[in-house]
Amino acid sequence: MIKPVRIAASILAADFARLGEEVSRVESHLDMLHIDVMDGHFVPNISLGIPVIRSLRAVSGLPFDCHLMTANPEAFLEDMRAAGADSVTVHLEAVPDPAPAARSAREAGLGFGVVINPGTSYEAMDPYLELCDLVLVMSVEPGFGGQEFISSVLGKVEAARRAIDRRGLECDLQIDGGIGPDTIGAARRAGADLFVAGTAVFRRPDPAAAIAHLRKAAAPEEWPGPGGRS
Ligand code: DX5
Ligand code: ZN
Repeated sequence: MIKPVRIAASILAADFARLGEEVSRVESHLDMLHIDVMDGHFVPNISLGIPVIRSLRAVSGLPFDCHLMTANPEAFLEDMRAAGADSVTVHLEAVPDPAPAARSAREAGLGFGVVINPGTSYEAMDPYLELCDLVLVMSVEPGFGGQEFISSVLGKVEAARRAIDRRGLECDLQIDGGIGPDTIGAARRAGADLFVAGTAVFRRPDPAAAIAHLRKAAAPEEWPGPGGRS
């Protein structure tokens, strides 16, 4: 069943020189922090890694949703957990059989999810839903923030929603990339319940107001008012 709208802010769009401060400003307005780990190999960009997660853990009580855009993500799961990660998502394009990674993640005490790129079909993910606490449909090519939303992925969100509901699963359905006030409503209507937003939060003059705006734009009928949680 679709869950209430939840927002995960992607720190990729934050000012890394003032990261603790940036997170503190939005801490009480968010449901979780989305942390994009990139290795310059699986994606053509390098972002941040375990030491940054550890430093953030010291200043934030939010759940840390770590999106691993790395080759061989299994190698880092225990260290991720020790640094303060709560859940990890791994790309099916990097880990074609995610079952061992799911087991290792659970042994380490992490929530686990699989991610598919815009070019990967929903069918690639379908066999693994039962392994997952969350599934993530990318709505941009992974590697960079600030890209335009690819609306053709919404059919995959709809397919995932149907499968999750038909099979009575509890997993979150996340969408990541190009989410803003103009795109979040369509993603919600397609069945997503966990929305990653970087640019639309941290690149706004008032990130807390921007989060409220996103919640309202996602589902006006669910919106409880400024400062409220849907
Ligand atoms: C892209 C990352 C996204 C990115 C989203 O590889 O996975 O999480 O930060 O950024 P926006 O919201 O700016 O599209
Ligand atoms: Zn991400």
